[in-house]
Amino acid sequence: MIKGVILAGGNGTRLRPLTLVTNKHLLPVYNKPMIYYPLETLIGMGLKDILIVSGREHAGHFLHLLGSGKDFGVRLSYEVQEEAGGIAEALGLAEDFADGGKLAVILGDNIFEDHQQIIKAAKDFIAQERGSKIMLKEVRDPERFGVAEVVGQKIIGIEEKPKHPKSNLIVTGLYFYDRHVFDIIKTLRPSGRGELEITDVNNAYIAAGTMTFEIVAGEWTDAGTFESLLKAGNLVAHKLSA
Ligand code: G1P
Repeated sequence: MIKGVILAGGNGTRLRPLTLVTNKHLLPVYNKPMIYYPLETLIGMGLKDILIVSGREHAGHFLHLLGSGKDFGVRLSYEVQEEAGGIAEALGLAEDFADGGKLAVILGDNIFEDHQQIIKAAKDFIAQERGSKIMLKEVRDPERFGVAEVVGQKIIGIEEKPKHPKSNLIVTGLYFYDRHVFDIIKTLRPSGRGELEITDVNNAYIAAGTMTFEIVAGEWTDAGTFESLLKAGNLVAHKLSA
């Protein structure tokens, strides 16, 4: 069985003043705190061991909210990212937890409608000998995301927040990695925004020829901007709580 990681760090600057005191992932999305949705996505895959990585200032809040995981029937662990050094840096803190095994990694602000497809993707990844798998989605505003270039059935590269996106297929915040992810993270250098980028991790797998992908069929959104937070609330209210 693979283990799960929820990345819930960062400063949530695009949601200020909502995030001046509270962490983004604790904000309400319709009737639950945001982090419940990615947690339920991982639990839906049958994962029993889940690590939450968050920033020092709010780590205690996550522990207070979610505790041992007993209420959800899973075992939760926690790691603290001392400074907001990027998604890939946060993932690097999961090395001991992973203990040489495969991981499903989800960003704490990603909401997926269709869990059946994800359950199947997780099974496929478990069967995949090595490498990584990512989930892509067609959107109208690709410049806000990591944008994939796909030729035929092959992904040939990802650009992080490009001014001129090569496609409208973006990389969602659900990733599957084998143990080599930690070797890759150790080779990364900070990007222009001073962070270790998950896109650089994914491009390393693409260069090695071990990346597979799937296109998300159901609705998906992140919730890191005012517009997407509203979209997330509406998605939950109209599709997930019905
Ligand atoms: C991050 C990733 C980006 C990805 C997105 C999905 O962006 O860097 O590649 O498409 O999550 O939610 P961020 O939300 O940190 O700007």
